Amino acid sequence: MSALIDLMTGLSLTNDHGRGEWLAETAGVGPGDKVLDIGCGPGTALAAASRRGATAIGLDPSPTMLWLAARRNAGAILLAAGVDAIPLPCDSVTVAWASGSLHHWPDVDAGLAEVTRVLAPGGRLVIIERAGSGHRLIGAHAITPVRADGLVEKLTALGYSATTVERADIASRDMLLVRGDLVLTSSFDHDPVTHVLEEVTASVVGPVRGSGWSHRES
Ligand SMILES: C[S@@+](CC[C@H](N)C(=O)[O-])C[C@H]1O[C@@H](n2cnc3c(N)ncnc32)[C@H](O)[C@@H]1O
Repeated sequence: MSALIDLMTGLSLTNDHGRGEWLAETAGVGPGDKVLDIGCGPGTALAAASRRGATAIGLDPSPTMLWLAARRNAGAILLAAGVDAIPLPCDSVTVAWASGSLHHWPDVDAGLAEVTRVLAPGGRLVIIERAGSGHRLIGAHAITPVRADGLVEKLTALGYSATTVERADIASRDMLLVRGDLVLTSSFDHDPVTHVLEEVTASVVGPVRGSGWSHRES
């Protein structure tokens, strides 16, 4: 049943009305970037990253969503996992974004910490969600402006600079945009971005080789 719901949801998202292009533009994606799409769904934003010459990495716990994403992203790395345990090494991506997935995260604090672990210093994080009122039913797939402000505070505490929250019309939807640039993280001793995606088996659907990667010791 959940596969059927995911399939219907995924198919309904295959026309993103330009949201993926908007994300890639906003995050300044270009050749050489390694872009992690957290909760990639059917992979429309991943395709936008690929079109700009970036390495596209999609993460989603739903096999159905990954199946849809694989159909339009032959060259992408697809990882079957949730944001709470990203099967990538520390500092391995230069851009991370979450489009409409944060409201699914089981533990936002843990998710943000995990995204920060895999994002390299200088990396850009962009989160977009529908703007909502907080109503239990109507707002279930949205976040409130107050919650977006709270996310900015969390990012600042995690070592991001230039953290902002904006309300924007994105592809004809009233949305909240939260973003920041990672300066430092307190937990890790960062080297320049030298690794390691080469170690990740290209174009896989499912847990990647070496998925027991742990935090690098400082
Ligand atoms: C509303 S869809 C958005 C899909 C896509 N990002 C888009 O904008 O079209 C939310 C996605 O988040 C995924 N998701 C659910 N739980 C998640 C988690 N714990 N970590 C990451 N993604 C999750 C879902 O499987 C789904 O693909």
